[in-house]
Amino acid sequence: MSSNSENPPWHSACGKVILFGEHAVVYGVTAIAGGIPNVMRARVLSSENATTTIAIPKWGVDLTIGNGTSNGQLLENVLLYLTRALHIQNENFHLELDPGIPHASGLGASAAVAVCTIRALAAKFRHELSEAEINQLAFGCEEMAHGSPSGLDNTLATYGGLLSYRKTADGPQRLPVECPNPIPLVIALSGKKGYTAATVKRVAEYRAAEPQKYQKIFQGIAQLSVQALSAIANSDFETLAGLMNRNQILLREMGVSCSEIEQVIDVALSAGAQGAKLTGSGDGGAVIIYAAQHTDSVISALKQAGFESFTAQLGKL
Ligand code: MEV
Repeated sequence: MSSNSENPPWHSACGKVILFGEHAVVYGVTAIAGGIPNVMRARVLSSENATTTIAIPKWGVDLTIGNGTSNGQLLENVLLYLTRALHIQNENFHLELDPGIPHASGLGASAAVAVCTIRALAAKFRHELSEAEINQLAFGCEEMAHGSPSGLDNTLATYGGLLSYRKTADGPQRLPVECPNPIPLVIALSGKKGYTAATVKRVAEYRAAEPQKYQKIFQGIAQLSVQALSAIANSDFETLAGLMNRNQILLREMGVSCSEIEQVIDVALSAGAQGAKLTGSGDGGAVIIYAAQHTDSVISALKQAGFESFTAQLGKL
């Protein structure tokens, strides 16, 4: 626990929505994704009783490191990795996290936890870290959480903005997307948790069984990303919404949608939305919706159907 007199600053990180290219990005396709600013914050306080503790009250997490609490294994391992990397493994502290998004919701919560934790630890123990170093360390945390991540989530959590992102043989290529007008979206939570490591593994297995089918799906998504870049540059959100619908068809074929996601999409489209697709790894998690002048009726139809939602403006400076 921490001393009451201490009031260290909070350090924040972005969540993210993937507009186009989830899963395909793991296989080298360009994804387009935007940061949701300040959805996660962390601070590090001094330890009062020579233990290291983690508290995430909104997620019901209250851990003492080294206690052998099994459901905290990943968090413990991630923290161990970070304290080693920062040469502070002999320090005790109290890490507090304040999330504004649920975990396993497809909105980049795990990468955001990593990034704001790294920032808070670096500040507490006076480590100067560049943004590139923060991003690299967060990638290490994502590898522990998800196996073989593309690096997209940690990149968005670190830098935010609206980016196109591609894994290349020379490393990740991250470019700002030309976006003269921010993209107004509704983000709806399906209520089912979606687990990235499991869906990424499942797609790898399906792809190994049917390589041609998956190559075609990934090629289709690559074309959508290219078209989306020009729709965004022209602020042509109607075209963008149509491309989102087409990406969702390919995600369905890929095998990463589920009945909860499809229900959210049905409710949104029936209430006047022009485009809707899952975002993130799928099999639960969140749906992004473009609803233009029908935004209010879409939000209330979702609420009536039992789905929580909020609005976000992607690409807003
Ligand atoms: C998860 O947010 C996005 C995926 O494409 C996995 C990855 O990029 O590492 C499903």
